[in-house]
Formats: sequence, structure tokens, C-alpha cells
Amino acid sequence: MRYGHFSGDGREFVITDVRTPSPWINYLYSGTYFATISANGGGISYDRSPLHGRVTRYRINDVPPDRPGKYIYVKDRDSGEVWSLTWQPVGRDAAAYRVRHGFGYTVAESEVAGIAGSVVFFVPADEGAGEEEGREVWRATLRNASGRPRRLSVTGYVEFALGHALVDLINQCDDQHFNRVSFDRGLNALFATKTYWVTESGGTQQQENKEWDRWAFFTVDRPVSGYETLRERFLGPFRSEADPAALETGLSSRDADFGNAVGALEVEVELGPGESADVVFSLGVIAKAAFEERKASAVARFRDAAAADAALARVRAGWERVLGRTRARTPEPEADVFLNFWTPYQAKVACDVGRVASFYYWGIGRGFGFRDTAQDTIALAVSDAASARRRVLLLARQMRSDGRVYHHFYGDGQGEFTCHCDDPLWLILAATEYVKETGDAGLLEQVEPFLDGKEGTVLDHLLAAVRFAETNLGRHGLPVFGRGDWNDTLDYIGGEDGGESVWGGMFIVAMINRLLELLEAHGRGAGSGPLRSFRDRLVEALETHAWDGEWYIRAFGAGGRRVGSKDERYGRIFVNPQSWAAIAGLPDRRRLLRALDSVRERLDTPYGPKICAPAFREIDPRVGLITRCVPGKKENGAVFCHPVAWLIQAECLLGRGGRAFDYFRRLLPDRVDSDVFVAEPYVYSQYITSDEHDEAGRASHSWQTGTAAWMYRVSFDQILGLRPTYGGLAVDPVIPAAWKGFGAERVFRGVRYEVEVENPDGVESGVASVVADGRPVTGVILPRPEAAVCRVRVILGRTP
Ligand code: GLC
Repeated sequence: MRYGHFSGDGREFVITDVRTPSPWINYLYSGTYFATISANGGGISYDRSPLHGRVTRYRINDVPPDRPGKYIYVKDRDSGEVWSLTWQPVGRDAAAYRVRHGFGYTVAESEVAGIAGSVVFFVPADEGAGEEEGREVWRATLRNASGRPRRLSVTGYVEFALGHALVDLINQCDDQHFNRVSFDRGLNALFATKTYWVTESGGTQQQENKEWDRWAFFTVDRPVSGYETLRERFLGPFRSEADPAALETGLSSRDADFGNAVGALEVEVELGPGESADVVFSLGVIAKAAFEERKASAVARFRDAAAADAALARVRAGWERVLGRTRARTPEPEADVFLNFWTPYQAKVACDVGRVASFYYWGIGRGFGFRDTAQDTIALAVSDAASARRRVLLLARQMRSDGRVYHHFYGDGQGEFTCHCDDPLWLILAATEYVKETGDAGLLEQVEPFLDGKEGTVLDHLLAAVRFAETNLGRHGLPVFGRGDWNDTLDYIGGEDGGESVWGGMFIVAMINRLLELLEAHGRGAGSGPLRSFRDRLVEALETHAWDGEWYIRAFGAGGRRVGSKDERYGRIFVNPQSWAAIAGLPDRRRLLRALDSVRERLDTPYGPKICAPAFREIDPRVGLITRCVPGKKENGAVFCHPVAWLIQAECLLGRGGRAFDYFRRLLPDRVDSDVFVAEPYVYSQYITSDEHDEAGRASHSWQTGTAAWMYRVSFDQILGLRPTYGGLAVDPVIPAAWKGFGAERVFRGVRYEVEVENPDGVESGVASVVADGRPVTGVILPRPEAAVCRVRVILGRTP
């Protein structure tokens, strides 16, 4: 990899060339306060919501990209030289910088002008601060490596947004009249707020009668020698963050009412040869309601380096707990770094942040996706079950008693109804994975409100989702497509009257199967006849109408048109109906195998299998957005990564471990040269441009994709085969025949299972024997011992 590599223990990604082809970012957050940080210091900060609580600005899609951010300037007061502790924004000597992204922190190291600099950015967990405070810490160390005494000034800089991000963007001319920034000398801190605030998500024209409910603060651990509050004064005319005028002429140390609010704090540092000094900045928010009693303690909280270090150690320990629940030692160490660290890390970040803020997403247009969150939750079920439980309940609260749910929601009661045929049923996935993992069937009895004021248990919510599906069937007995299914861009299938989704039918079958299994496991199977017969009707409809000879079609359009079939010129085959036929457990194994072979033959590329092919090259209003997108990108024929996880699962379900792992390995984010791939090589992107476009191999929309959650679960559950069931942890691997074995660990209901698998016969699947703590086990469900650790030996082989 040209720009960097994983550290030896896999826990950091080390960027050795900071001129990365796109901003390679990391996420820092506590649960209420969030920040992104790129290798070059760019990124946003927000409090609770990226839409309503934007603390700092970040200009997506601007030039130069990735600005502004969290910048620390260093100036030699004798020579006048200026540089920054991240390569950008000053941009001196890229080779002098190295950046390490770790779990919950990012470190930038440099050696410029004889000063060794290091700054670690993180968001402390802020234990005990509740929602009243949130902050990020920039903890810098400067060491004088020049052999002569040095007089430096160090200036931290941020550009504030102060409240509603969209209003800040589109109404800056008026909005700036409500900005107040002032420096409190007694507290050695700068405070900024806006006396006007919009909280409506839908309309920004509405003039609300309120002020932003936070004060932003910016402070540093030594006396401020100068400060700045206005962007125009700090940068100066015809300048940018690369060469702020105030660093030449001096900071004005004036407060500001009105204008583009910034915070710049300058401190002086004098270093003898070999000496070093810490400088700790913190940027954060304090609730206005608690401001007077909190402000002094809030700004002082992480002022000394020792407190910052202790807080960072707690952040790291927190991530170790999350990531420590699973371990894999496979014959492919380059896969292990993802299995053990980066994929579960990404999955939790994606769940906690939603698809709302990244280098690609403004965090303005959409809240949390219902189906996205439900899928992300399946990773949390393993890594952080308490959070998963909260997510399931939050999702339940986005449902009406008729089963319809907000497609997007903001968690504050606001949301948007659309007509997607799949949304409500994803709740079944999240809830069943949580209960299987934890055994906490009490969740099902928990009462939660519906959006229309009624209330019901979580189980009532799951049943309401199925009722929605039962009342949304079309001519072939399959779900009416509405404005999309999992694929948001198949939004006008069948024109205005709506076609039918074949994938949707399979998905609903799979979700009903999950629900039946749940009811059965909890002694409630008796009344599930109607569920069963609905499921059977769907299966029959699928097998009667949706098989196209070599694969399953994608949808029925207007006039019975078969979308995703041999009759079509474009989009003749889609991957999802082939993989979900197996996931839904459709009965005809010959068809299932044939369908997956068709994927291999017709969709696979060197970058992985495509979502569909051939890509649409003519706009078709009776299919929708997919046909308007350029061929080879996004849903129109890219290697859309999320469905590949389902394809891997399907291959595993049919016992084909070699093929499953081949897809898995080829999709790992570090497989393609970074100059081609462009996005971060340590996390999955939403899609990789396919061979139907001349930028083949280029990835986009990194971080915020359900791929991470699914890859995490599919690799542990299906490939390594350590799968939660209601009765216990199952062990049933499906691996490449060439693997001689592998090791894995999995914490399940309080027991750490340490599993060694041997594959003497070179099979892809099939468990010949299992021994747990020295005792033979019948079947593949592991016992639940009293002890905290259970050692398991599994021999794969040809079973009689
Ligand atoms: C995006 C959406 C997701 C959707 C997918 C396919 O990733 O966030 O909800 O399923 O695109 O259209």
C-alpha cells in the first residue's frame, strides 16, 4: 500500500504519506459529542445531531478539499516560520508527517524546523457529564530537537457553525447576525454561541423563537497570549487557512458580535535544547441551562496533560472491550486484521453515527435510516449488547400501529414516511439477533409507544411489521414495490401503480422464518399457523413466478414486465434475489446452486461481484433512479459492497466455503492500489466502481455502509461458523478446503469460547467431532459451562 499500512498488532492504520488520494478519516465520539478527523486535521464536530447541533464548519466538496478542521499552528517567534501539527492546512514538507488512526483517537506526528510535534485528537467518554457537556481534546507535545533554544507560539484554530448546519450553509448572510464570541480571561476560555436556532428538520423558512441551547467553548492549558474570534480578521483578505494573516501581524484579541465566528487561541512556549512541553486544547459544548454552574469546571476538566492521558486510556479500554468479544486467527493474516479490529470498529461507528456525517455526507439531508440502523444493530448485538437493546427500542418507537415506519428518523420524534416495501420488517432482524445473542427474551415484553399514540410490546411491533407486509401484496402475491425495497434506486418499478419486488418476497420469507424460530424458542409457536401459511404462500409465489431458468428475476413491472430477467436488455440479472433465495431457505437446492453460479458467471469482476448487469444505459422512468445513474457506479452496476456480504452468506449456506472466502477476500478494502481505490483502505466503502465505467476500482462513500456490520457477522457466523442460536453457540464453519484449520474466540452469554478447528480431510464444511473442555459434544451446539472460559476442539471432515 503506497500511503500507509496497518501497525504490527493491527490496532492502528499508519499513514506514512499524508498526501492521500482522498481524506482518510477517523471518527471520535462519546455518544453525545461527535467529531471526524482526517489525516490532515480536517473534519467536523457536532453535539448530538449533525443537523441541529453543528459546532464547527466543514465544507464538503469544496476546494481545496477537507477544510476547515482542527488546526494547531506553530510559529517560530524568532524566524517567523509557520507550520501546522498536521500537514494541512499550512502544507509544508509532507514527508515530515506521519499519522496513526486508532480506535477512538488519531495521532499526527511531525518533525518540522527542528521541532518534533505530536498531537492526539480524541473525544473523552465524559463520564458523568451527561448530555450537558461534550468535548474533544487535542493533546499536543512539542520537543525541541534543534539543539538551540526556541521561542514558539502555538495557536489552536476552529471555525464555528453554532447550531443548525443547513441554516448556517444557506442563510449565512442573516445567520451571522446572531453569533457572539468572547474571551473570558478569568477562565482562560473562549465562548461562542448563536442567539437564534432552527430545529425543524423539514422547513428552514420557519422562524423559530429560540436560541441555540449550547455555548461552545475553546480553551487551552496555559495562559492565552492572544486570541481571535472572526474569520476575516484571522485569515485576512485573499488568504486561507494555509497562511493566516494574523500569524504574521498578531491576533487582535477582540471579541465579536456578528460575522463568521472562529476560535483562535495562542500560547507561548519556550524550549531549551531537548526540552519538551505539552499543550492541551479542548473544544466542546456546555448546555446553556447549566452554563453558569458548569462553565468553570467544564473548561478546566481536561486542561492538564495527565487528565487528558487518563481519559484517552479510558477511551482505548472501552474500544478494547467492544472489539475483544471476537477473535480470529485464520491462515490469512491480512483478513484477520479486518475480522478482529477494523470491521467491528467500522460497524459500531456506522451504527452510532448513522449515515449522517462523513467526508461524503453533510449530515444535513437525512437522519438515521430505519433499515440501515436495524442492520447495523446486528453487529452491536455481539460487540455492545446494551447499545443494541437501546437501538431496537428506538427503532420500535419509529413504527405506527399499522406497522409502517419512518424511513428516516431523527430520534427526536421527527421522521419521514415513504413507501418502501421492506423497511418495517428489518426490525425483526435486529430484535431476533439481539435475543439470540443475549437470551434476553424480556425485550419482547417491553412496552413501547407506536407513533400514533397506541402502544404495544416489542413482539406486537414485530407482528405489526408482518401485518404491514400481508396488506401490501400485488398481483403475483409478492410485495408491492412502492418507492423501493432495499435498493432505494428501484423506485419507480411499475410506474406509478407500483410493481412487485421479488427480492422483497424473499426477504419477508426470511424475516418470517426468523420470527417463527423466535416464537418456537420461547414457547409461543402454537399460534403461529397464520404466519406459517403467509410464508408458504410467498414461497409458492416465488417458485411459481420468479424463476427465470438460470436465476431469479428481480421484480415485476408494469404489464407483467420481468425486471432482472433474460427478457431485458439492461439489468438482466441482480445479485440480491440469488443470494436471498438461499437466505430465505427456498426449497429447490438445484435452483439455489444454479442461481449462485449465474452470479459467478455474469456478475463477478476482478473487484468483486456487481449488484446487477448489464448496467442501465438508457433512462427508464418505469424502473427509476438506477437508470439515471451513470453505468458502473452506485446501484447501477457497481460492486455494491453490502450485498456481497449476503452473497458470501448464501455460498456458506450451500456449503461452498472456497467461493465464499474468495468473495470475502477480494472485497477487503485494501486489495486495490490506493491510487485507483482512492477511499480509505482500512474500512469498507459503499461501492467500488465496476468494469462498466472507466474508473473501475474506485471506491466511494467509505465508512457509512451496512457492509461492515454484515461482513462482521457473516465472517464470524457463517465462515468461521460461530453462530448464536437460541439454544447456545453453534460451531459449524464453512471454509476454503485449503485451510488446515483456524482458531477463533467468541464471548457468548458470559462465556469466552476458545475454539480450535482442524480440517484434516481438506473439506469445506461438515463437523465430524466437537470436544468442549475435554468432553465430547453431540451436534454442533456448544454447552454452557459454569466457568468463564470454554476450550473447544472441532474436527471437520467427511461425516458418514
Ligand atoms: C444506501 C442506503 C441503504 C440502501 C442502499 C441501496 O446504502 O443507505 O438504505 O439499502 O443504499 O440502495
